[in-house]
Amino acid sequence: MIRPSTILLAFVMSLILSTCFNAKSAERKIEVSSFGKTKEGEAVSRYLLSNEKGVEAVVISYGATLVSLKVPDRNDKAGDIVLGYDSLDGYEQDKSYFGATIGRYSNRIAGGQFTLHETVFQLPKNDGPNCLHGGSRGFNKRVWVGVDRSRPDAQVLELTYLSQNGEEGFPGTLKVHVTYTLPLETNELGIEYSATTNKGTVINLTNHSYFNLSGTASQEILDHELLLHALKFTPVDSTLIPTGELRTVRGNPFDFRKPTAIGARINQNNEQLKFGRGYDHNWDLEKTGTNGLQVAAEVFEPTSGRVLEVLTTEPGIQFYSGNFLDGTVRGKGGQLYDHRTGFCLETQHYPDSPNHPKFPSTELKPGRTYRSTTVLRFSSRK
Ligand code: GLA
Repeated sequence: MIRPSTILLAFVMSLILSTCFNAKSAERKIEVSSFGKTKEGEAVSRYLLSNEKGVEAVVISYGATLVSLKVPDRNDKAGDIVLGYDSLDGYEQDKSYFGATIGRYSNRIAGGQFTLHETVFQLPKNDGPNCLHGGSRGFNKRVWVGVDRSRPDAQVLELTYLSQNGEEGFPGTLKVHVTYTLPLETNELGIEYSATTNKGTVINLTNHSYFNLSGTASQEILDHELLLHALKFTPVDSTLIPTGELRTVRGNPFDFRKPTAIGARINQNNEQLKFGRGYDHNWDLEKTGTNGLQVAAEVFEPTSGRVLEVLTTEPGIQFYSGNFLDGTVRGKGGQLYDHRTGFCLETQHYPDSPNHPKFPSTELKPGRTYRSTTVLRFSSRK
């Protein structure tokens, strides 16, 4: 016979266990709060993802933007390694694309024009003669819908946006998802993209975070040591459109096959550096044989010891050394972001691919799914 005291004990035990379990799963929920309303009155949410290793990422539904990213330095001190703003107003006014998801087409399309199956499409010319980062109102200026898809091993935030046929001149209604994944036990942030369309279109999505691994954007990024797994880059004309050539990095300032300070050669007398006002180019990533995720870039910041590795499934990476920052933009904590106080590593297909049949294709056909993955991995060393 089971004694009443045994039943009571079993009941108390199950109550304790279920409370612990709930507390644990509650811990894993993404914290959601309001980030205000846009000028048009649309509500914007703020999502805080955190893990047990001291990484914290804040994403907002406006532009599916990464607003802050706190990672430990070599002494386990957390610091925010991305540039951004304190309020929604900053992101609405922004012209630098801080932390934003870029689409429908990252980087430039020459003359804002491309031809797909004999139809010519005209896009806005929002960067001199060219279309930049999806046009006048790209995905970075749209409100996305966020859903918490966390699992026991990771916090997962999925953001969705429906881009209408003809939006910014692009054909096809495109359903696009961006998923941020922060594993509980590993110091990395995954960014996965997927999209489908109802008509043939072109697509090239990326994240436009500006990093400063020192954790303070008052410092230039010129001492950061960069390694790029690339033997070639795509030289550009004076409006930053690729000429179509794939040029070797051997013997010129574009060779980052060994860790090299960003500032070591940035002011050399080189036509490509003049066109970019520094680095603002796409590198052709070396393939390791498989088509999967591979390390594209590694960056080390000597004062903090922080290391950032960028892994991607994409064929290219745009390394931009923050050349257009000029101390006029007021960012987080009132900080004025000076020239070259942040750098971007935009994983992508090559700029202007729709006009270069020899570049890897950026066409998305109906019935197919566009997929792209980038992982930011954090560590530190002496
Ligand atoms: C990309 C471009 C740059 C610049 C920045 C945003 O990196 O290649 O030329 O437009 O975005 O300022």
